[in-house]
Amino acid sequence: MISSAIPNFHKFPLEKKLKFIKEFSNLNQEDFVLLKKYQKLPDFTEFENNIGPFKIAANFLVQGKDYFAPMETEEPSVVAAASRAARQIREGGGFKGRYLGNQMIGQLQLLGIKNFKKTSKEILENKNEILKIANKTNEFLLRHSGGAKDLEVRKVKNFLVLHLFVDPKDAMGANIVNTMLEKIAPFLAKITGAKIGVRIISNFAERRIVFVEGQVPVEELALGDFSGEKVAQGILTAQELAELDIYRAVTHNKGVMNGIDAVALATGNDIRAIDAGVHSFAAKTGKYKPITKWKLENDFLKGEIKIPLAIATVGGATGTKKAKLALKILRVKNAQELGILAASVGLANNLAALSVLGTEGIQKGHMKLHQKFIKNI
Ligand code: MEV
Repeated sequence: MISSAIPNFHKFPLEKKLKFIKEFSNLNQEDFVLLKKYQKLPDFTEFENNIGPFKIAANFLVQGKDYFAPMETEEPSVVAAASRAARQIREGGGFKGRYLGNQMIGQLQLLGIKNFKKTSKEILENKNEILKIANKTNEFLLRHSGGAKDLEVRKVKNFLVLHLFVDPKDAMGANIVNTMLEKIAPFLAKITGAKIGVRIISNFAERRIVFVEGQVPVEELALGDFSGEKVAQGILTAQELAELDIYRAVTHNKGVMNGIDAVALATGNDIRAIDAGVHSFAAKTGKYKPITKWKLENDFLKGEIKIPLAIATVGGATGTKKAKLALKILRVKNAQELGILAASVGLANNLAALSVLGTEGIQKGHMKLHQKFIKNI
C-alpha cells in the first residue's frame, strides 16, 4: 500500500499529483476524467495542493491507515498547515480515534400540558408503539440495525419535550429524524390530548461524539529558530489562555473547524449543522471551552479532540459527483471513519496554528502563501 507521507507533495507538477492520487485511491478512468474536468473551470489555478475541485492534504495516518484528505477551503494555508501537522503526528504513531455513539436527537414539543406527570406517563407507557411508528418510516434503516432506539421526555418550563434517539447509520440524520417526528406527532396528540409544536432534529448531537488523539515527539515540533521545547511551551500557553478566556477559545475552535469544515464541505456535508453542534458542545458547561486539549507527557506533546460530529457518507449532497469523488479519494468505508478522519484534520490544524502562534506568529507562513496564491489567480 502506498503511503500518504509524500515529502513536498504540493510541489509536484499537477499531472504527477493527479497520477499519484489516481493510483493511491484506485480511481477508475471515469473518476479520473471527472477530476481533470474540474481543472477546466475558470477558477481553477495550478497552485499548491489544488487538485480538481479540492485542495488535498497529505501525510494523514489515522488508525494505521493512510489518507489524502480532500479539503474545500479558500485558504491554501489551512491545507499546508494540516499536511505539516499530520506529518508531525505521524512521527508519534498517527491519529487514533473512535465514536462514542451514533445517535441523533429529534425534538418534539408538546404544548398545553396540564399534568406533566400524567402526560409523561402516557408517553412512556406507549414507548414501544411510538418507536414502532417511527421505525415504519424507514425499514431499510431498521434492517441495518439503525433506526429509532429510545425516547425520553423532558419538562422545559411550560412544555413537555420528547427526545427521540435515532441511529441514522451513515446518514447525517436530519431527513430521517424529521420524518419520524412528523409521523409520531398525531399519535402523541391522540394519547396525550396535547397540541404539537416543533418537530425537528437537534443539532446539539451529544450522542454522536467523536474522540481523536495524537502525539508528537517534542523535538519534531522545532520550527525555524525555535526548538521543539519552545514550540511546545508556546502551545501549552496558548491552550491555557483558551481554557480561561472565551475570546481566545472561540478563535482556537475556529482554527480546528478550518480543517473539519473543509473536509465536510468537500464530502458534501452540512457544515452549518456541524458547526452549530460543535460550538454548542463547547459551551455545554455554561462556559465556552476549547474543543481540543494539549499536554506534555515525557518527551511527547499529546493532543485530543472531543466533539459531536454528525458527518455522513450517504444522503443529501454526499451523493453529488464531487462529493463521491472526495469519498473515493479518502477511501472511507462509512461515516464514522470519515468523522474520525475529519476530527484528525481538525486536531492537525489546531496543532499547526498553536505551533506558530506561540512562536513566530501566524502572518509569516500564512501571508507568504496568501501572496503567492493572489499572484496565481
Ligand atoms: C485562522 O484561520 C485560524 C487561527 O486563528 C486559529 C487560532 O488562532 O488558533 C490561526
